[in-house]
Amino acid sequence: MAGKSTKSKWSTKNPYFTSITENYVLNGKSSQKETRHIVFNLGNSGLEYKAGDAIGVIPRCPPDSVEQVLQICGFSGEEEVETNHGQCSLREALTDRYEIHRVSKKWLMGLTERSSDSPAKIEMRIASRRRFSSVDGAMIVDWAARSEQDLPEGYVEMGELGDNSTILLQELISNNDSMEDYIWSRDYVDALGDFIDFVFTPQQLLEGMARLKPRLYSIASSPDFEKGTVHLTVAIIRYHHHERDRTGLCTGFMADRCETDTTEIGVYMSPTRSFVLPEDGSKDIIMVGPGTGIAPFRAFIQQREINKDSGRNWLFFGDWTEEGEYLYREEMDEWKVRGVISKHDLAWSRQGSEKVYVQHLMKKNGEEIWKWIEGGAYFYVCGDKQYMAKDVHVTLMDICSEYGGMSPDESKDFVENGLMKSEKRYLRDVY
Ligand SMILES: Cc1cc2nc3c(=O)[nH]c(=O)nc-3n(C[C@H](O)[C@H](O)[C@H](O)COP(=O)(O)OP(=O)(O)OC[C@H]3O[C@@H](n4cnc5c(N)ncnc54)[C@H](O)[C@@H]3O)c2cc1C
Ligand SMILES: NC(=O)c1ccc[n+]([C@@H]2O[C@H](COP(=O)([O-])OP(=O)(O)OC[C@H]3O[C@@H](n4cnc5c(N)ncnc54)[C@H](OP(=O)(O)O)[C@@H]3O)[C@@H](O)[C@H]2O)c1
Repeated sequence: MAGKSTKSKWSTKNPYFTSITENYVLNGKSSQKETRHIVFNLGNSGLEYKAGDAIGVIPRCPPDSVEQVLQICGFSGEEEVETNHGQCSLREALTDRYEIHRVSKKWLMGLTERSSDSPAKIEMRIASRRRFSSVDGAMIVDWAARSEQDLPEGYVEMGELGDNSTILLQELISNNDSMEDYIWSRDYVDALGDFIDFVFTPQQLLEGMARLKPRLYSIASSPDFEKGTVHLTVAIIRYHHHERDRTGLCTGFMADRCETDTTEIGVYMSPTRSFVLPEDGSKDIIMVGPGTGIAPFRAFIQQREINKDSGRNWLFFGDWTEEGEYLYREEMDEWKVRGVISKHDLAWSRQGSEKVYVQHLMKKNGEEIWKWIEGGAYFYVCGDKQYMAKDVHVTLMDICSEYGGMSPDESKDFVENGLMKSEKRYLRDVY
C-alpha cells in the first residue's frame, strides 16, 4: 500500500519544528554542482506523506546579513515593529518574516515616497553607520555617534538627496531593465549602501520588503521505505556578486546554517492529488527526471519495490557528467540488478562533444515508448519547467505522432486531452 497523506495540523502558518539528520553532497569530487541529499526527522509530529508529495521548508535569513542591515541603519534590533504575523522585534522580522537576501522592486519604489517631513526625523536615532558601495565594495561611510544629537556627515533627507542616490533611483524607476538588473544581484546591505542618504524608522525599513515564503521540495523517499523521515534532493544555489559570496535563501540555510540534529527548521507537508503512482501496480511507468527531477522517482521506485508491484519501471535520468552528477548511482545500480528498474537511460549533457538530453534518448527509444503507452503505461516528468519539460512534451507528441500514426494535431489532442486530462496518465511535477 502506498502511504497516505491526511490533513495535518501542521501548515505554513503552523510549521512543525524539526532538524536535519543527514546532509551530504551527492556529486562526485570533480563536480561543479552541489546537489545535496537532505533528511528530515518527522519525530512524533504525526506528519504523513505519500510518494509524489512535496514538503514545505521555512528558511531563515542569514544572521550576518541581519546584523549588517541593523548596523547600517543604526538600529539595535530590539525595536518593536508590526508585521503580518503581529508585533515582534526588528531583528526577528528581518530574520523570520521578510526576505532580506534580495532587495525588492516595491521597496526601491517606496524610497521615492520618503519625504523630508517623515516621522523618521523624530523617531530615529542613528548610533553608527558603515556603508559600502555595491558597485566596487569600497567603504563609503564609517561613522559612530558621540552624542544623541550627532548625525553622520552628509546626512540629508529625501528631497535633499546626494546626487548619486538620486541619479541611481531615477534610473531604476524609469528603466525596468535597469531595475531587474539591479535587484537580480543585490540584497538590502547593497541597497542601503547605495541609498546612503535615506532615513528610515524601523517600521519604514520593512515597508515593501517581500514577505518570507516557504520553499517546496519534491520528496525523494517513500514513507514505507524510509520510516519517520523525509528525504530530499536539493540543488544548492551559490553565486558571487559585488565582491560577496551569496546563496539562495533556503538552499543556503539548509546547506550552510543548519547543524545536523541541532538547528530547528520549520516544515509542513504539501500533498499532491495528481502526481501519484497508478493504483493498479501492474501498470508500467515511464519516469523522466533529469537533475533534481530524480527526487520523486527515487520515492516512486522505493514504493513500487515495497509494494512488490509487477508493472515495469523505466527511468530516464540525466545531468552534466556521469562522474560528477550521477545522483544515487549505487542505489540505481542495485535496483537494476534486482530488476526493479527495468529500463534505464542516462543522458550526459557535458560529457561528449554534443549535448545529450533526456528527450534525445526518448526519441531514440520512440517506438518502444509508444508501445508502453499503447499498453497503458503512465508517463511522469519532474524537474525544470522552463526548458526541459517543454522539450519533453514536444518529444512525446512527436513520438505519438510518428509511431501512433497520428497527424500533429491528433497527437497533440491525444497527449494533452487524452493522456493528460481524461486518462490522467501523463503527470508532471515541474518547477
Ligand atoms: C513543486 C516544487 C518542487 C520542487 N522540488 C525541488 C527539488 O526537489 N529540489 C530542488 O533543489 N528544488 C526544488 N524546487 C525549487 C525550490 O522550491 C526552490 O525554489 C529552490 O531550492 C531555490 O530556493 P532558494 O530559497 O535557495 O533560492 P532563492 O533565494 O529563492 O533564490 C532563487 C533565485 O535565485 C536566482 N538565481 C540563480 N542564480 C542566480 C545568480 N547567479 N544571481 C542572482 N540570482 C540567481 C534564481 O533565478 C531564483 O529566482 C521545487 C519547487 C517547486 C515549486
Ligand atoms: N525553475 C527553476 O527555478 C529551476 C528549475 C530547475 C533547476 N533550477 C536550478 O538549476 C540548478 C540546477 O538544477 P538541477 O541540478 O536540477 O539541474 P538542471 O539545471 O535542471 O539540469 C539537469 C540536466 O538537464 C539538462 N538540460 C538543460 N536544458 C535542458 C532541456 N531543454 N531539455 C532537457 N534537459 C536539459 C542540463 O544540461 P545543461 O545544463 O548542460 O544544458 C543537465 O544535464 C539549480 O540551481 C536549480 O535551482 C531552477
